[in-house]
Amino acid sequence: MELIDAVKARHSVRKYTDKPIGADKAAALQDAIARFNREGGLNIQLVLEEPKAFSAGVWKYGQFSGVRNYLVMAGPKGKEAEEKVGYYGEALVLLAQTLGLNSCWVGLTYKKIPGTFTLREGDVVHCVISLGYGTGPGIQHPLKPLENFYEADGTPPDWFLSGVEAARLAPTAVNQQKFKFILHPGNVVEAKALFTMMGYAAIDLGIAKYHFELGAGKENFQMK
Ligand SMILES: Cc1cc2nc3c(=O)[nH]c(=O)nc-3n(C[C@H](O)[C@H](O)[C@H](O)COP(=O)(O)O)c2cc1C
Repeated sequence: MELIDAVKARHSVRKYTDKPIGADKAAALQDAIARFNREGGLNIQLVLEEPKAFSAGVWKYGQFSGVRNYLVMAGPKGKEAEEKVGYYGEALVLLAQTLGLNSCWVGLTYKKIPGTFTLREGDVVHCVISLGYGTGPGIQHPLKPLENFYEADGTPPDWFLSGVEAARLAPTAVNQQKFKFILHPGNVVEAKALFTMMGYAAIDLGIAKYHFELGAGKENFQMK
């Protein structure tokens, strides 16, 4: 499965079987994590076989069960780092999907377990991402019209619409989808976070940008 196929196949999965991720898949994830941490200045960490962060009864929202593997999305504070958390976190989510693993971004409904991850000076945990073999593949979130997600003068080129189509499938906090892609002259694309009371706008924007790039093809445009 290619990453672009993973864009379509991925849905949030909150219930997992007890099958371990396996050494080969964990190694593939660790390789990517090391590369993304270097590129993005982040401190993403993979925690394996740790059930306490999602132990039952603490949270009702989201209804997670069987979560024993997750990514701790740590990094510097601020909007710039948050966008990178979204961008590189979604790269890991889609990589996981190509490896046959399911996932869910989790901003609220988890506990931080001391001793399972480390923070550098100034780091915060922005959120976590559960990983594992789902009891099912998840379901497609309700789709709004494509026009909701872009602005362009005239009919946009196919590559731009493919990018917007991929972004429309992106996970966002409470499925808020508060982003827009604007096509400027000279194939320049601007990704804009729209107003939201919920927070997570910068993480959501980073996620949507990663999807857009996969759909549009990096060679076709310049991100503003
Ligand atoms: C930054 C972020 C935080 C999220 N936090 C939670 C959460 O705390 N609990 C939960 O059940 N789902 C959470 N989600 C998952 C969203 O609810 C889900 O992505 C959205 O409803 C769209 O569904 P889909 O991922 O299946 O396309 C989060 C998603 C994102 C991107």
